[in-house]
Amino acid sequence: MSDDVTEITPEAVDDAVQAALQAIAAAADTAALKAARAAHAAEGSPLARLNAHMRSVPPEHKAAFGKLLGQGRAQVGQALAAREAELEQAETAARLQAERVDVTALASHARVGARHPLTLLQEEIGDIFIGMGWEVAEGPELEHEWYNFDALNLDPDHPARQMQDTFYVDPPERHLVLRTQTSPVQMRSMLTRELPIYVISPGRVFRTDEYDATHLPVFTQVEGLVVDEGITMAHLKGTLDHLAQQLFGAEAKTRLRTNYFPFTEPSAEFDLWHPTFKGGARWIEWGGCGMVNPNVLRAAGIDPEVYSGFAFGIGVERALMFRSDVQDMRDMAEGDIRFSEQFGMVV
Ligand code: DAH
Repeated sequence: MSDDVTEITPEAVDDAVQAALQAIAAAADTAALKAARAAHAAEGSPLARLNAHMRSVPPEHKAAFGKLLGQGRAQVGQALAAREAELEQAETAARLQAERVDVTALASHARVGARHPLTLLQEEIGDIFIGMGWEVAEGPELEHEWYNFDALNLDPDHPARQMQDTFYVDPPERHLVLRTQTSPVQMRSMLTRELPIYVISPGRVFRTDEYDATHLPVFTQVEGLVVDEGITMAHLKGTLDHLAQQLFGAEAKTRLRTNYFPFTEPSAEFDLWHPTFKGGARWIEWGGCGMVNPNVLRAAGIDPEVYSGFAFGIGVERALMFRSDVQDMRDMAEGDIRFSEQFGMVV
């Protein structure tokens, strides 16, 4: 139907109605339906124009054509209303579906992080000793020189004072250092605790070391100290073997090799027999140990005639290297999540 509508015939009305009904049925959304209404039912549409021609219809036909047109327009009007209701319902349903919230769904929680494998290993070592009735002692990382050196029998001009490359902290007259070892906790424990003493002290230590595959300037040690009556080196050896077996399996053991540390006498380095070491079972150097030097006991006001003790210090990074076959210590310091993930991301 076009502008050439000049005459009302039943065919013209029917064509206009059919075209309108088709457009209405084809409207896929309310916007399309609005367009169909404008084209087929509004001002200027074929039906409206046909209606305008009623004026020129001879009087004898007016009633019949009027009825015809009225029915056609009513039909289109109903179809529009019905389709509109249908589309609105569908669109509301689609919107509700899109905005649907499943209140029973598990909340997606953001992971806040996980503990580092070094921390986990420190805790595991702590648990092994706590299981034997020991206590965990703490000391400061910024330490007085006296605890870090003097109290451990390392006089200012003792050559062993140069053994460890120390970060001294300004101003020099305050005599503060970043502790080079966890051994200062030995003296702190002896001065503050009741006898007997069974403590371990895990923590960070600092040295002006190179940063490479086997050295970090900041690393972790676990210090152990026992002071009691009748303590012998056999107790030390048994303790180290127990630790080795708990961490590395029933066949693990330790051996002592004589060495020198000013705060223990006799002193030893100790090696770990690692039965499942990648590349074959072998001995690997693990830490230092010995019987607490009587001078150290005396400095803490403990009578070396009555009490004796043993002490040891182990490197936690080294333990993690042997246990988990970590080739490069820097992986433990760089904080790459892919490294930690291999250890299970325990929170
Ligand atoms: N503090 C020593 C170091 O860092 C290790 C050590 C050796 C600790 C002997 C001890 C010990 O408790 O008895 O090299």
